[in-house]
Amino acid sequence: MHIGSKWLVFLLLGFTTLSLWYCSSSTTIGSTANISPFRNLHDTVDYVGIQTCKGCHSDIYHSFIETGMGQSFHEAKIQYSKADFQSAKPVFDKKNNLYYYPMLRGEDLYIQEFRIVGRDTTHNRIEKITHIIGSGHHTNSHFWTDGKHLYQAPLTYYTQKKVWDLPPGYESYNARFSRKIDIECMSCHTGMPKMRDGSVNIFDHLPLGIDCERCHGPGELHVNEKRSGIIIDTSKQADYSIVNPKRLPFKLQVDICQRCHLQGNNVLNPGKKFTDFKPGMHLDSVFTVFMPKTNGPQGFVMAGHAERFQQSACFIKSNKNQESYNPNLNFTCINCHNPHVSVRKTNTAKFNQTCIGCHSTNSTRSQLFTCTDTKGKVGSNCIVCHMPASDTRDIPHVTVHDHKIQRPGKPSIKQPVIAYNSKNGFGETTGELWAVNNKSTNLSMEAMAYFSYFERFDPNKAYVSKGNDRLQQWKSKESIPDKTEPAFWESASPNKLLWLETAVHGKFVEQNAGELIGLVTALGITPEQTGISKINDPWFFYRIANAYQRLEQWHKALPWFIKLMELRPYDSDFSSETADIYIRLNQLDKAIALLNQILSRQPKHENSRLNLAFAYAGKSDWPLVQLWCNRTLELNPDNIEAHNLLIKLYEATGNQASAVKHKLILANLPR
Ligand code: HEC
Ligand code: HEC
Ligand code: HEC
Ligand code: HEC
Ligand code: HEC
Ligand code: HEC
Ligand code: HEC
Repeated sequence: MHIGSKWLVFLLLGFTTLSLWYCSSSTTIGSTANISPFRNLHDTVDYVGIQTCKGCHSDIYHSFIETGMGQSFHEAKIQYSKADFQSAKPVFDKKNNLYYYPMLRGEDLYIQEFRIVGRDTTHNRIEKITHIIGSGHHTNSHFWTDGKHLYQAPLTYYTQKKVWDLPPGYESYNARFSRKIDIECMSCHTGMPKMRDGSVNIFDHLPLGIDCERCHGPGELHVNEKRSGIIIDTSKQADYSIVNPKRLPFKLQVDICQRCHLQGNNVLNPGKKFTDFKPGMHLDSVFTVFMPKTNGPQGFVMAGHAERFQQSACFIKSNKNQESYNPNLNFTCINCHNPHVSVRKTNTAKFNQTCIGCHSTNSTRSQLFTCTDTKGKVGSNCIVCHMPASDTRDIPHVTVHDHKIQRPGKPSIKQPVIAYNSKNGFGETTGELWAVNNKSTNLSMEAMAYFSYFERFDPNKAYVSKGNDRLQQWKSKESIPDKTEPAFWESASPNKLLWLETAVHGKFVEQNAGELIGLVTALGITPEQTGISKINDPWFFYRIANAYQRLEQWHKALPWFIKLMELRPYDSDFSSETADIYIRLNQLDKAIALLNQILSRQPKHENSRLNLAFAYAGKSDWPLVQLWCNRTLELNPDNIEAHNLLIKLYEATGNQASAVKHKLILANLPR
């Protein structure tokens, strides 16, 4: 109901022998499966899970399961936790006046949120943790589940410093129990997940831990062939039933690692999903990762190894004019890392040997034969000076190694630990983005990248104007007039429709509801017309619905919300806002039915509890208003609208004492 704050929440929650087959290169979109020699890239081949691979590759399995990747995601049981529950002290979030405390009951983990006023505990919420994310090499973060909806919990254990604290980013905005865990996040942190259609955070299949098939591709075909006795002498030739990354051209090999080790602003190609990438494909055939351009010294983000490494002179020069992968010529992640073996079990000598393999007097691989520093003799630890451990800007209490190999003594890369933003995130940003994994971006990708970067990472207006600039050029290219008739969109090409989606996005990020509706009106579009209903991005419909909602044009908002619900039936936030419209239109029974439906699926959906109170207020059913306001406040003691509604209720029923009590609470809310 309180639209200003909702808007904010959405913004806050809201990137030698094989070369023959690959020379058609990165501009082909989506057709990699057809040109790849690896037969398991075909859509019909399924994932089979790590246990199946274990059956025949048990040595690799046992060593892999010890790695950070093998332990990246667990169900929440004490035996999988690296955290210290015994000596934990409550973590205080001063800004919000809330304490967080990790609790152990039997094998199960819980997180408690509470507030103390004077000697009273005025708020106490305890949620059972269902999953642990992070092997504990750096952190353990925690998820809880509301019905089937997956959320992050507001407490993380930082293993390097052995401290409990708020999760990364929560120090500036504490999302409490409401940060949705979506497919973008899970597709980097575990085996291939399956999200329920029409939802954002319900997973029908969520494997525990990154598994073999994330680097080798779907295994069904390979397993069937091996079981039926089709065996290949892999010392002589490739087994094309499964991807062995060492047989891929070096770029495709790096694409496997940077599918996950390159965190930025990911822009999906039209019609693509985060789960579409398979080893052997070009990453840019599925999505492009945009990062901000910077002047001068840069910090780096935690999952930024691929970006940093590829900026090294060692990487650039060694791979120049090379297509295939030859470990004696090329330089990729696997020269240093055997992904089946934990870095913790890898001797430093292995890393240093890799350097010396290219930088020594008898090497033909670099002109720089020796280290020019007196302390850099053979036998010294090259890593300490050339790949130093550093703070990262996006994760507190964590250090990782800078993977840009360079001459040390350049301006320090040690940065204060703060999330992405123009002031202190990436050093001095220029207001421009660059595509890390894609050399041929186009106007549409760039416009989308600028708008979403502004929306998700850095509210610097320069990004919006760059986005608008791309949008304008794109519009002329597509010959889209300023004013159109509905018929124009009935036969519009997918590109024109994509332009329309992006134009709406642009107005939305500028929070300009009036202009957004101006655009919709000038173009004459309605949600029912067949041209428009071809668009299947729920956000397109949400953004228009939301603009009408902000302008309080409830009747006009409704059809856009209805279309939105068809596309995203399991998104409780969208459904709850639809119920809000029904309330505004005084269709109270419809609102109540919808809200009850949401709450039966997701009992702790705060906004639905609040809206239910409003719906009952419409019916003057005061006991139920009181009940649902209180149930809202159980989840969030600072819900202003619930307090206000209660005040109105108590004043109307002559209960002055209670009205005053809630006014006092409101006056003392944390700001
Ligand atoms: C029934 C036994 C069996 C199962 C199950 C099995 N493999 Fe294999 N795999 C083999 C054999 C035997 C070879 C070597 C001979 C060959 O490739 O034909 C092999 C070879 C490989 C290779 C090397 C291919 C090359 O060209 O170098 C990879 C990679 C591989 N397997 C991965 C996997 C993964 C991942 C799984 C699980 C999805 C898996 N395997 C399941 C038996 C199996
Ligand atoms: C593009 C892929 C990608 C996305 C998206 C992503 N992460 Fe990560 N994240 C990584 C990688 C890779 C690392 C490991 C970096 C390292 O070890 O240096 C990491 C590290 C972490 C860690 C620390 C793990 C540890 O103990 O070492 C946590 C916790 C985490 N991410 C949580 C999340 C959550 C929650 C989300 C979604 C809201 C998310 N990540 C989104 C790739 C990603
Ligand atoms: C993070 C990516 C990654 C994961 C996860 C992964 N592998 Fe590999 N695998 C590789 C790479 C890279 C190579 C090539 C290594 C080389 O030759 O230098 C490889 C090679 C192989 C080979 C070829 C022969 C050999 O011994 O090197 C087999 C078999 C194999 N992997 C099986 C597995 C199995 C089984 C799992 C799961 C238990 C697994 N891999 C998990 C990246 C991965
Ligand atoms: C599916 C996503 C994904 C892919 C693909 C992937 N990684 Fe990772 N990797 C991660 C995440 C997430 C972590 C952090 C796991 C943790 O500690 O919780 C990680 C951790 C690591 C680590 C450090 C921890 C350890 O001991 O395992 C190394 C080294 C690594 N990855 C290398 C690679 C290389 C090399 C490749 C490509 C061959 C690769 N990864 C592919 C997601 C991925
Ligand atoms: C020149 C050797 C070298 C290359 C190439 C290399 N790494 Fe590393 N990597 C290291 C070293 C050294 C460490 C630190 C190991 C330790 O903690 O002892 C490391 C650590 C990591 C970690 C753990 C977190 C951290 O930063 O300490 C991840 C994740 C990782 N590397 C990913 C990658 C990926 C992905 C690539 C390719 C894009 C890559 N590495 C290429 C040497 C290398
Ligand atoms: C695959 C070969 C290869 C490996 C492995 C390698 N380098 Fe390099 N390195 C090069 C090449 C090639 C250059 C560019 C200079 C040239 O053309 O010889 C270079 C350049 C450098 C430079 C100069 C950087 C600059 O910005 O000018 C440094 C410093 C360096 N390497 C250190 C290392 C260290 C330390 C390691 C191990 C962590 C390492 N290299 C691993 C091939 C390699
Ligand atoms: C004590 C820190 C330290 C260690 C350890 C170290 N280096 Fe260096 N290295 C430096 C510095 C500082 C420079 C730049 C010196 C300069 O600008 O003249 C450098 C320069 C280099 C260069 C560029 C040389 C040139 O001609 O420009 C290479 C290559 C290199 N180091 C390789 C290595 C290798 C390989 C190792 C491990 C055997 C290593 N370094 C260990 C500090 C170190």
